[in-house]
Amino acid sequence: MAVDLVDVPEPEPGPSEAIVEIAAVAINRGELRLLKARPQGWRPGQDVAGVVVVRASDGSGPGPGTRVVAWPEQGGWAQRVALPTSHIAPIGDEVSFSQAATLPIAGMTALRALRLGDPLVGKRVLISGASGGVGRFAVELAAGAGAIVTGVARDAERAAGLRELGATDVTFDPNQLGGPFDLILESTGGHSLEAAVRLVAPGGRVVVFGNSSDTPSQISFADFRGRAGAQIVAFFVYESGEPPTFGDDLRLLADLIADDKLHPSIGLEKSWTEANSVFEALAGRQVNGKAVLIVD
Ligand SMILES: NC(=O)c1ccc[n+]([C@@H]2O[C@H](COP(=O)([O-])OP(=O)(O)OC[C@H]3O[C@@H](n4cnc5c(N)ncnc54)[C@H](OP(=O)(O)O)[C@@H]3O)[C@@H](O)[C@H]2O)c1
Repeated sequence: MAVDLVDVPEPEPGPSEAIVEIAAVAINRGELRLLKARPQGWRPGQDVAGVVVVRASDGSGPGPGTRVVAWPEQGGWAQRVALPTSHIAPIGDEVSFSQAATLPIAGMTALRALRLGDPLVGKRVLISGASGGVGRFAVELAAGAGAIVTGVARDAERAAGLRELGATDVTFDPNQLGGPFDLILESTGGHSLEAAVRLVAPGGRVVVFGNSSDTPSQISFADFRGRAGAQIVAFFVYESGEPPTFGDDLRLLADLIADDKLHPSIGLEKSWTEANSVFEALAGRQVNGKAVLIVD
């Protein structure tokens, strides 16, 4: 899996699309899979930040010169991109382009998956993959909302910084946990999902949004004994909420950064000319938090 930088035509915006000059893009584990699966010539990129250069012709959205974060469906790894104004949010000067670029997929997934456990005040929340891009956002957002958060990480090195983000407890083996947890964010799959079913509280929720380990899980009805009413909920960020609300939630997250309440963990930042080495690091589980490419 490798990408090349090539010249492509200038974007042609629809009536409700602005053109944004891109300064930084973030990479997601899911995009590594898409890069392998999509045909040659496919242009990835779902997390971007930059400056509006042309306002949407229908007058919606921010005007030229506005610093923004945005969520294209694809094709965001480019110098200029046409973006629907419903998927754009302005960012404060305190928020760097790199920080903003981490928000669309990872920040929104954490935010919207956690909402499935609302209200979070006093709830016990377990987060697998806590050292990852989504996981670190989820730890800080859940703790900020008043939850008692336990993060699952591979080892102490990968867990670095999780307590500072608000985790009360960090474990390297969920089988050692007693539980129960009111809300479990589960994205590691395999034994981690099996453990989640054993750890969920009666009436609690296991929100399943990934399978980073790429391994199946074995669960049966008996695993739910003593957990009547517990639910497993499948979550896909693309199908969460209505598209017009994407920009609203991006703004919410960017404002939390500006208010010093959300701190994106950027584990690796390089020029987009070095994209392939960043993919390797992400695939090799060497990035703590988010990987960002600077469009220079
Ligand atoms: N459903 C949706 O809409 C949606 C949206 C976003 C993401 N996702 C999925 O959610 C998962 C997390 O995304 P992310 O962007 O946070 O990924 P990431 O930054 O790569 O983080 C992955 C996390 O999973 C942990 N992990 C445990 N076992 C693993 C294994 N065998 N292989 C790889 N990672 C393993 C990693 O731990 P280490 O630190 O030890 O490597 C890390 O904490 C991915 O599977 C992604 O595809 C789904």
